[in-house]
Amino acid sequence: MENNRGSFGSNLGFILAAVGSAVGLGNIWGFPYKMGLNGGFAFLLIYLVLAIFVGLAVMIGELAIGRKTGMSPVAAYRKLSKKFTWMGYMAVIVPFLILCFYFVLGGMVMRYALSYLTAIFGWDTWGVPVTEFFGTFICNGASVVIWTAIFIALNAFIVAAGVAGGIEKFCKIGMPALFVMLLAVIIYVAVQPGAMDGYKFMFGWNIEPLKTDFLGVLKAAAGQMFFSLSLGMGAMITYGSYLQKKESVQKNAVIIIVCDTLVAIMAGMIVMPACAAFLNGEYGGGPGLLFASMQQVFFNMGYVGNIIGFLFYGLVFIAAISSSMSLLEVITSFKVDQNIEAGKAPGRKKYAIIAAVIIFVFCLPVALDALGTGVENGAPIAYPAELFGIEVKGWNDCWLDFYDMLSEGIMMPLGAMVMAFMIGWIWKIDMVVEECELSGHKFWGKTFFDICYKIITPIGMAFVLYAQIMTFFG
Ligand code: PHE
Repeated sequence: MENNRGSFGSNLGFILAAVGSAVGLGNIWGFPYKMGLNGGFAFLLIYLVLAIFVGLAVMIGELAIGRKTGMSPVAAYRKLSKKFTWMGYMAVIVPFLILCFYFVLGGMVMRYALSYLTAIFGWDTWGVPVTEFFGTFICNGASVVIWTAIFIALNAFIVAAGVAGGIEKFCKIGMPALFVMLLAVIIYVAVQPGAMDGYKFMFGWNIEPLKTDFLGVLKAAAGQMFFSLSLGMGAMITYGSYLQKKESVQKNAVIIIVCDTLVAIMAGMIVMPACAAFLNGEYGGGPGLLFASMQQVFFNMGYVGNIIGFLFYGLVFIAAISSSMSLLEVITSFKVDQNIEAGKAPGRKKYAIIAAVIIFVFCLPVALDALGTGVENGAPIAYPAELFGIEVKGWNDCWLDFYDMLSEGIMMPLGAMVMAFMIGWIWKIDMVVEECELSGHKFWGKTFFDICYKIITPIGMAFVLYAQIMTFFG
């Protein structure tokens, strides 16, 4: 049965795939722009505290649940307790919702990377002045749909090829490449005049923003942490189910978190100094930072901007696809495990493709609403509030934010809260300890994690959830 499901070939393969899942648009797009909007250093500080006190415990819990049951989320939760099968279903619905926008963004990133590549050789494929490309591109529904479809096809191809044969193979090459590209861009940006101010914004001690809007910063950092670490849904349970019994769960959890945080900080070390050097210190570009502000940055660099732009969007592409494949894997393995349980053939290829096609349909509104700029500004379809006549609160009115609000905003903190509560009070931490010690590695920090599961995570998440619901519906 083990072979039927597939598994990672080596622990290094597992780590690279799990880091690949964690490192994504969340790190390179979300982290810098949220840091830019939430006071730089203050945001970084809260993020680190949350990663240590909440992220680590949840990561260990999810990997342990996955490996203990050897199943993807639905089957895993059902095995642990029938009453909580709904948690498993939520862990499959969330990746679905995330993919509805993640695939579109991935396709857009691919388009950017390729245009920078051709520009290096003097072939201009932007069609309009680079700095105006974003606005034109998002209103060109057909083009966004095509790039989304190409990106989805790549994902389906890799996931259909299996855990070791597809995902692990890609990440073994992709992740080291991503790291080298990150370093190259960081070094180039660092030697630009004026870059220093960007580092000061990130690392200079300034907790003033916490005094004025502590809750705002906390909420932004908490949402970011879950999304960035791929927690609160099925990804780490699923990858944990492919982890070999002899490997240390705790050590792997620490490595994944350290790598993910490191990449987020490194991305910040590109974007913040670049904004300082090339955009007069405008850090607050918001969601447009990756697609619009950075275009201006590369444009201001002159010809070299084509090379740096290609490296930058190339690495964003690798980061995005290694994350989206983990999301598609959650959905695919859900069906694979169901089939195996029913004594049928796994059908991995078939279900990877079926899932990809269904998600493509749900991606269409995101690809066609021009990220909320509205029909009057050239979007082919209306955004959700207009279509459904609902009132918009606390999220930007577009399909992307609509899907994001449901997944990252509500379901991920809810998932993490219930999971931590279950481990802390119902299944007890001994379940996690037992699984972690199976490999012969001693479980460290039992009291610390017990407090995390019992108190810090549930209460922290209840609080975040409450704040989210109030902003969205209050
Ligand atoms: N962690 C990924 C990112 O930062 C996104 C993701 C979320 C992937 C949840 C898998 C599960 O972009």
